[in-house]
Amino acid sequence: MNSHITYSDDFMIKETRFEFDNPSKTESLFTQSNGYLALRCSTEEAYCFQKRDMFVNGVFDKAMDDEVSEIANLPDIINLELYKNGKRICLHSSPVLSYERTLDISDGLLTRKIRQEGHSLTYERFVSMAERHLAAQRVRFTGSEDCTISIITGIDGQETNMGSQHFHEGVMRFFNLNELEMASRTVSSGVTAVISSSVKILLDGKEIGMKWAVDIKRRAIYLRGSIDVKAGSELTICKLSCIHSSRDAEGDGSSDDALRRSREEREVLFSRSFDDLMADSSAVWKRLWENCDVKITGNERDQALVRFALYHLLIMTDGKDDRLGIGAKGLSGEGYKGHSFWDTEIFLLPFYQFTQPEKAEALLSYRWNCLESARKKAAEHGFRGAMFPWESAWIDDGETTPLWGGADIVTGTAMKILTGELELHVTADIAYAVQAYYETTGDDTFMNEKGYRLIGETAMFWASFIQWDEDGSGHIRNVIGPDEYKEHVDDNAYTNYMVHHNLKLALRYKDRIGMKDFDEGLVRKAEEGLYLPQPDENGIIEQFAGYHELMDLDLSKYRSADVVGTIYEDYNMDQLRMYKVSKQADTLLLFILLAHDFSPETAKANYDYYEGRCLHDSSLSRGTHCLIAERTGRHEEAYRFFEEGLLTDFGSSLKSSAEGIHSACMGSIWQDAVPGFCGIEVLDGALSVNPHLPPSWDSIAFRLFYQGQRLHFSIAKEKIGIVNEGSKAVRLKIRGEEKILEGGCEI
Ligand code: BGC
Repeated sequence: MNSHITYSDDFMIKETRFEFDNPSKTESLFTQSNGYLALRCSTEEAYCFQKRDMFVNGVFDKAMDDEVSEIANLPDIINLELYKNGKRICLHSSPVLSYERTLDISDGLLTRKIRQEGHSLTYERFVSMAERHLAAQRVRFTGSEDCTISIITGIDGQETNMGSQHFHEGVMRFFNLNELEMASRTVSSGVTAVISSSVKILLDGKEIGMKWAVDIKRRAIYLRGSIDVKAGSELTICKLSCIHSSRDAEGDGSSDDALRRSREEREVLFSRSFDDLMADSSAVWKRLWENCDVKITGNERDQALVRFALYHLLIMTDGKDDRLGIGAKGLSGEGYKGHSFWDTEIFLLPFYQFTQPEKAEALLSYRWNCLESARKKAAEHGFRGAMFPWESAWIDDGETTPLWGGADIVTGTAMKILTGELELHVTADIAYAVQAYYETTGDDTFMNEKGYRLIGETAMFWASFIQWDEDGSGHIRNVIGPDEYKEHVDDNAYTNYMVHHNLKLALRYKDRIGMKDFDEGLVRKAEEGLYLPQPDENGIIEQFAGYHELMDLDLSKYRSADVVGTIYEDYNMDQLRMYKVSKQADTLLLFILLAHDFSPETAKANYDYYEGRCLHDSSLSRGTHCLIAERTGRHEEAYRFFEEGLLTDFGSSLKSSAEGIHSACMGSIWQDAVPGFCGIEVLDGALSVNPHLPPSWDSIAFRLFYQGQRLHFSIAKEKIGIVNEGSKAVRLKIRGEEKILEGGCEI
């Protein structure tokens, strides 16, 4: 892997050297979060090129009128600078004898150990899984000579989102001899963030009262103090921070309430020790892993990297607030501005609905809570029903896709981003996800309260959107399909088939939709008349009308490039539309999502045709290719795509994850390992299992929830073991053979 980041055993990832020129990869990969509060892994002492970020899920803001709503970078709490006899301690201050930064993904503890000439330092940090508002840091210093250590640490609101400042100056104060508080509001959404820190000093394990000086600067408040430390003595600095916002689900929305909750909670939390708080957090982590772990034997690398993906899946959402989606980078960076895409419904939801159904329910309820703004978007465009935004932030932010992107190589100006206007399939993807969730969980309450209506509203949008030709055929024109290298296309196969599925569902559930303006006649007309491109004489389904007339292009240079998007260095969007080149899986997704509507031969023919024309320039691509290669019997290729997916973030490229990890890719890794290689799907009301493990795997074991029952699977090459840990029977199909597995029983 030739990377400075590696894994040491099943639950440990490790950075073996600090990358001064590219610290951001580790900052993203080693992100700590509980789904509410997130910290990128910046170091306590500052270095160039760092991107310090702290996010509270849901704190979105627009910095300026001409910008879109984005997840706001909160004031920094991590900063902690040490000076020895007046000289700043950092990795340059004296020769480094040993260095190691580890993230224990079993409990989220980050540890950095540095041995330098003259002293050694251990930094530890966690974001509590038990106390969602708490982040804790501990630094331990031991010197080889007597010295004076000066400490400067505080709350620093000078951090921005790549230059955009989201917070007003705010109110800062120092109190209780060692505590700081900053309360400030976002500039346009008016969300108040209350941040407070307490700093305690211990010498050889004994707390000592420190006489702090306080500095208040522009948007920053700092404690400053010095202490004499004898050679061999251990100085410990323990900083606990509490972060609350007026958008917290448990609050009443006011700033006063955020302040009150912050003060009440921190009084209790600040009186506790780092170890005690860590123990509570570890206990919650243990329970999370119990349901979600995937144990692979035979291939250590795959085991470690699948768990690394699971770690990120566990920290990107806590499922406790149904006004929040999942950002394309989770909470690990500013990339994609914290916005949610179809990534959630198609690439992430399967993991949650099978392992933590309550999180899947919260994510779909987020879409439900966005319904009014989706209806508004449809009405503004002259359509009926609900038209969901391509990029989504806070529930009433509406469409948040930015208008301008990277450079157009031909015109030299910024490219207009058209996805917010034209990439419409997300609306059908949401309906698809509702049905998939229902088939897996059997959650009638959700369906009655929200699910049927979501299916009805989305179907009404499509029924009013379809254009009719004189021959009575319905068409979906001027869209962008999943392949974003093609704009303004007509009858994108993926979109049309997914819309058709949406319309069919609405007709199936027509009596339960409970929507006043549901027009059954119009939906039926759309379902019957919508054009669905059929396989041609070679079995190929045309990606969109006119695709077959496009020219082929030699893609070898772009397919082998280290970074994605290099085709933009040679072609602009107008030119790209002339060629058979796609950014990511498009038509091929149909053979996964609607697999049983097509023959295996059609799936194979399309895989062979489209894969070679795809650049995999989106992290959403390889996982799909793995699944389809697996299902069409190309096991070696499937495994190759799986490996490439594993390395999307973990691989040696220093730049690819700088702005955050790829959350959909993490979902795909789970989908490839579990539904993919174990052949798991819900089929005709049964949970079907049909494994084909990669040659290097001896066995795989995991738990899934199906119809409310927890099932434990242990699959080896020749053997499938399933324990129904629930109390009710479930219908299974094991290698095609139907079986009923009673509660408490095993096969
Ligand atoms: C992909 C989209 C995806 C988005 C966020 C884009 O590069 O083309 O399909 O939704 O990234 O992950």
